[in-house]
Amino acid sequence: MQIYKTTDYHDMSRKAANIISAQIILKPNSVLGLATGSTVLGIYNQLVEWYHKGDLDFSRISTVNLDEYKGLAPDNHQSYRYYMDQNLFHQININKENTHLPNGQAGNVDEECARFNDIIEHLGGIDLQLLGLGRNGHIGFNEPSEVFEKGTHCVRLTGSTREANSRLFDRGETVPEYAYTMGIRTILLAKKIVLAVSGEDKAEILKEALYGPVSPAVPASILQLHPDLIVVADAAAANSICFSGEECV
Ligand code: GLP
Repeated sequence: MQIYKTTDYHDMSRKAANIISAQIILKPNSVLGLATGSTVLGIYNQLVEWYHKGDLDFSRISTVNLDEYKGLAPDNHQSYRYYMDQNLFHQININKENTHLPNGQAGNVDEECARFNDIIEHLGGIDLQLLGLGRNGHIGFNEPSEVFEKGTHCVRLTGSTREANSRLFDRGETVPEYAYTMGIRTILLAKKIVLAVSGEDKAEILKEALYGPVSPAVPASILQLHPDLIVVADAAAANSICFSGEECV
């Protein structure tokens, strides 16, 4: 595990974007696993900026996203497809056909999970997976549980996750109760994982995830077992784990 402690959100975003850029430059046909949420927005803004400067080429890149709300249409402003289109895909030269998310409107849950697993398998797995960290330790929408779910599945979101994510919804809109998410096994099979964490409210759960027992009660704790985990955290999030320069740079 490599931990980068950065000064602030902007610095965290730049560092994580640099790592993703290196991946794109070194392997122009990379399969990127992507995340949504507020933490990763700055990373996408930075990648878009470097694309416009001519430093990055996404034409041969494929992407798979971690998750999608069940029931939401792609053009619903709260869907993760809409988020990805607006914040990244429509602003770079990626082939839209190479961007994959679970279909929130699929009629059959099992078939949709199998379809999404197949896509990842046919792409040959994920080269670099970008992750945010949920306040209860979730990754993707793998909520605290008694077991680690392996492949893509449909989950009932916890009250705390729905409440945390309600800040991104307009008044009067309700956060869907269910969501599709990539499973833990698929995430762990990614060759490289970049975990982006920002803010004081994530400090305790980050410490628990990285140094506590590996348990499905804190889904992100499984990342301790990954051979190439890079944590990029701003100072507010990293303060409870970086006491010396030994573990953090
Ligand atoms: C959301 C998403 C995750 C995201 C996490 C953190 O529920 N499903 O993929 O990484 O929670 O979100 P944020 O960065 O907004 O705190």
